[in-house]
Amino acid sequence: MTQESSSTQAKPSKLYKTGVIQSFVRLAKTYEMANHIMSFWTDEIARYKTARLVEKKKPRAILDIGIGPGTLARKFLKYHKPTILVGVDITIEMLKKTAKETEIQGIIGDAEKLPIRGGAFDLISSGFFLRHYTNYIKGYRERSRVLRIGGISIDLELGKHDRHFLFPIHKWYFTRAMHIFGSVVGIPLGSGKEFKLLPLSYTRSPSSSQLEKILSRTGFDATTRVFFLGFYMIVIGKKQ
Ligand SMILES: C[S@@+](CC[C@H](N)C(=O)[O-])C[C@H]1O[C@@H](n2cnc3c(N)ncnc32)[C@H](O)[C@@H]1O
Repeated sequence: MTQESSSTQAKPSKLYKTGVIQSFVRLAKTYEMANHIMSFWTDEIARYKTARLVEKKKPRAILDIGIGPGTLARKFLKYHKPTILVGVDITIEMLKKTAKETEIQGIIGDAEKLPIRGGAFDLISSGFFLRHYTNYIKGYRERSRVLRIGGISIDLELGKHDRHFLFPIHKWYFTRAMHIFGSVVGIPLGSGKEFKLLPLSYTRSPSSSQLEKILSRTGFDATTRVFFLGFYMIVIGKKQ
């Protein structure tokens, strides 16, 4: 490869981000239903558990990153009744769904460069989003910036808890099995290609141990909780 051609080519992280946006533009209409079918509705239980886990913190100002159609944010609204709940998403089609189905305020923006002032929130939540960071240090630094001291960052994600005894099964399930299942469910919904994003994003994302290190490097005290035999994990960070 010549110097010129390598300098004009987009970086893999940029290409990945573009691919993510294109996929979610196409997935916006079917995202929620496909998610429920592919997970046998356990994704909804996982979201409820996530919201209830921090019920005692009584956050008044919540930011949901990668809000999508508001699937996780609605649970926070129900259990926490915050004064402010803002959602950020990079895909306008997803924010249109949020606006149609909820009263949540949505902002278009990139999670790695949040269009939000510092120290504004008590809690940052995200559901099945963290796999889509292209630069994790940048992403969690941004969270740390917009949270007040003592504020909480909580991420619900597919299980990649490398200290769990079923970790090899989780890995197999979210890569090989989901690749096939994604085609079976995705093709009739007209989005077979987009469902391949799940195994790809799972493979790219850090494990729970790596995430805990990233969180501690960016100013958080981190812990990981698992449920459904480790098929889901919740990564919690308290801003120091
Ligand atoms: C898998 S969906 C999650 C939706 C919802 N939070 C849930 O509980 O199902 C991931 C969302 O993250 C958004 N997203 C991906 N990369 C992003 C980024 N860099 N900044 C902001 N949003 C992003 C996508 O547009 C998509 O709506």
